[in-house]
Amino acid sequence: MLALVARIVVGVGGGIAAFKAVLLVRELQRRGHEVRVVMTRAGARFVGPVTFTGITGRPAVTDLWDPSYAGEVHVELGVWADAMVVAPATMNLLARSAHGFADDAVLATLSCVACPVLFAPAMHHRMWSRPATRRNVERLRGDGAAFVGPVCGPLASGEVGDGRLAEPEDIADALERVLADSETADAKPASDLSGLTVVVSAGPTHEDLDPVRYLGNRSTGRMGYALAEAARARGASVVLVSGPTTLPDPHPAIRRVPVRSALEMKAALEGSLEAGADVVIMAAAVADFRPKDVAAEKIKKSKDAQEGRVLELVRNPDILAELGAARTGSRPLLVGFALETSDVVVRARGKLERKKVDLIVGNLARDGFGKDDNLVTLVDAHSATELPRGTKRELADAILDRVAALIAR
Ligand code: C5P
Repeated sequence: MLALVARIVVGVGGGIAAFKAVLLVRELQRRGHEVRVVMTRAGARFVGPVTFTGITGRPAVTDLWDPSYAGEVHVELGVWADAMVVAPATMNLLARSAHGFADDAVLATLSCVACPVLFAPAMHHRMWSRPATRRNVERLRGDGAAFVGPVCGPLASGEVGDGRLAEPEDIADALERVLADSETADAKPASDLSGLTVVVSAGPTHEDLDPVRYLGNRSTGRMGYALAEAARARGASVVLVSGPTTLPDPHPAIRRVPVRSALEMKAALEGSLEAGADVVIMAAAVADFRPKDVAAEKIKKSKDAQEGRVLELVRNPDILAELGAARTGSRPLLVGFALETSDVVVRARGKLERKKVDLIVGNLARDGFGKDDNLVTLVDAHSATELPRGTKRELADAILDRVAALIAR
């Protein structure tokens, strides 16, 4: 993926997933990187340090009191590293790191590095969803750390949930992206969105009918993901509330909150607004209606199936309109999309006024839906500007140019 060869410290925490750290070290070496390993005491109980010593050719550091380390090994590693990745990062390790503890080899090294840090958490799903863990992750992100995973899948407990360590290849990919960013960071122009929190919604919503069926739409999420990536590249702290999509994970510095239905999307957006947002961009194709009842069992063909079936729907909340109505001042800045089949500007302006938002990005379904590029018109209270046809990433930057101008007013 990247021609860059880096010196990487792998910090191994004490979780069952520690065995996968061996595969991660191998994967990083396969990509040409030089790797050294530090382990917590608990990590060294899950996987023998000698395994890491064997594959890296350097002693795995587990004990800062070991007299064979001349000098301060954590300081030496801190200076040596181009990047540090902690895998698995347990609940305890995240908590201690978030609060500046430095009482084992991994924490002491983390407190000495001046390079990018990537955490790959792994724990039981209840530990991951714990408010304390959420706070600690946010605190570490605020300090500049990036995260990859955890992913949803089978856990050591036998349950399925969010808490599984990301795959070693995915951790290595994320680390290389973080490294590549830090390489180019100095060359970048001033980041015009730095210091701002931008919340973006993306993708469709799926409104369940029964355990296997849903009502959905053909939104791919590409526009929202492009906006999230562009906002991050311009220095914003980004939360991406994503309906179901098949897109690859966004940059590890973006906090992705996966949701399915409109009601889940509304709850996730409200949650991120409570934490403070300067800009909300609703690029999601939110379903206007949902089935009145969700069947607990798969709906069967019944005798009356010959005559067809009537499906009763109820209105979903209009999330954007509710955000517009609830806003007292001019923050957060609100941006909506209007996907139309005709009269884009007139309809977009109607939405701007009805939903009390600052900017509507209007487009015709035939121009962009499901495609890589699009033709859009930016409609605000004073103007309607058609942008040149562009890729979704180009349009994302043009939309953010306008956002930056509106927020500076
Ligand atoms: O009214 P319409 O659905 O065309 O408005 C589109 C805009 O409103 C989009 O930004 C979309 O994300 C948002 N929306 C919403 N909640 C809904 C429907 C649309 O926030 N239930």
